[in-house]
Amino acid sequence: MHSKILILDFGSQVTQLIARRVRDAGVFSEVFPYDVSDDFVREYGAAGVILSGGPNSVIEGDTPRVPQAVFELGVPVLGICYGMQAMAEQLGGKVENGLVREFGYAEVRAHGHTRLLNEISDFTTPEGYGMLKVWMSHGDKVNDMPPGFKLMASTPNCPIAGMADEERRFYAFQFHPEVTHTLQGEAILGRFVHEICGCKSEWNMPDYISEAVEKIRAQVGNDHVILGLSGGVDSSVAAALIHRAIGDQLTCVFVDHGLLRLDEGKMVMDMFGKNLGVKVIHVDATAQFMGKLAGVTDPEAKRKIIGAEFVEVFQTEAGKLKDAKWLAQGTIYPDVIESAGKGKKGHTIKSHHNVGGLPETLNLKLLEPLRELFKDEVRKLGVALGLPHEMVYRHPFPGPGLGVRILGEVKKEYADLLRRADAIFIEELRNTPIPLATELAAGEGHGAFHKNWYDATSQAFAVFLPVKSVGVMGDGRTYEYVVALRAVQTLDFMTAHWAHLPHELLGKVSNRIINEVRGINRVVYDISGKPPATIEWE
Ligand code: XMP
Repeated sequence: MHSKILILDFGSQVTQLIARRVRDAGVFSEVFPYDVSDDFVREYGAAGVILSGGPNSVIEGDTPRVPQAVFELGVPVLGICYGMQAMAEQLGGKVENGLVREFGYAEVRAHGHTRLLNEISDFTTPEGYGMLKVWMSHGDKVNDMPPGFKLMASTPNCPIAGMADEERRFYAFQFHPEVTHTLQGEAILGRFVHEICGCKSEWNMPDYISEAVEKIRAQVGNDHVILGLSGGVDSSVAAALIHRAIGDQLTCVFVDHGLLRLDEGKMVMDMFGKNLGVKVIHVDATAQFMGKLAGVTDPEAKRKIIGAEFVEVFQTEAGKLKDAKWLAQGTIYPDVIESAGKGKKGHTIKSHHNVGGLPETLNLKLLEPLRELFKDEVRKLGVALGLPHEMVYRHPFPGPGLGVRILGEVKKEYADLLRRADAIFIEELRNTPIPLATELAAGEGHGAFHKNWYDATSQAFAVFLPVKSVGVMGDGRTYEYVVALRAVQTLDFMTAHWAHLPHELLGKVSNRIINEVRGINRVVYDISGKPPATIEWE
């Protein structure tokens, strides 16, 4: 078992980033709600504890507090923002409402030559003080440090911007080392986990495989497992990992609802069936889905029908596999944190049902081998398991597939046209390199490194508009359908910018679609942000 860092979440928007930064430093870490019990804290076995920021004020009585056991464990503790204030208040210091609120960029002066900040700085003042460029956010601030603490950092507005009790190894910052705006954040968190907590860099995906494989084997024994393979990143990586662990005890069910992208079914079957030798049952349920969708135009009704039908088809197939005791799902760590946060206490309460309510009805046990991993870790794991980079770094694709990209009634004829238009758009995005200057500006792309416009966008696709417009081709008048292109850049998919694709690229895509896809004579580009629009059109 490797050493691990316990992160207690006080409700900050960026708590997950703390865990990601710590893991990037090669140390396993997990996020739990702040109100876990003292027993939990004692039994967890943390090499160090980090207290996150949060929206509350410790000055108001009934606000979150740190489980007292945290301060009695004898391990290092790092408080961030609210975490610092709660630490100060509980250890005998004083927090007051600051007259000047501070949000955003700040320059912080380091003090006291602490082990945590020693020789970490962005620049040195003419007087010789080490300075840090940080992301600050506070209304309240610590006015008196608790006994035993000394000053570690300050700004003119926030004289106690950092404090340290080096004997007990308690440290705290008013600013956020976990966000990239704090330039030395990575160095500070790295110093905390490696040198202060004494953790080695032992968390990496290639090594994780053998650990995960052992765990899956121990969990399922000789039982059989079924998994709903969608072709998306999470279910694909879960399938590859479970197959590595138990081989033929895994059967995947791949439901093709007829609303997949061009050649997607073949790609999934080739990849898993042929290349990896995974048992995959390919169910072509196109006719069944199209039948149910006939005449339905309301987006939510369409979603419900597709979801329910998916469950129906999956269940029928699963029912045939008499030996199966487990249902595997590609649930990932952000889903777990989110459910824990929503359900408040406890960490294991609710699982995300990616395939809608299946566990209860099938009476199967749940196997979720990616529950501990962030999306970027899942991708790295996929590559380490031998999945092609192209598949692992694919844009997200919604469960209802093209069903929400064909406006109004879904027809097979429309899906066929849309598939071809979409494939042309994606092919051109992949084939168009992005100039370096643009690459730097387009920091919000999808892949870790951008070499082409596909990687520089987070999601890109074509949308079928069931309206006809007049055109002219050769000598004749045409009266055909319209396709809209959508490409966005986003970090979290909650807000998004439309991608400023080069006009030449858009022109080429438009020409190709109109020339190659008979039935479409007009292409438009969607220049709406989210909000007020959404990423998908339905
Ligand atoms: P919107 O359109 O809400 O999309 O801005 C945000 C992200 O969610 C995806 N999305 C879905 N994914 N089932 C899914 O599995 C759905 O019904 C669904 N609707 C939207 C969308 O592709 C984007 O990544």
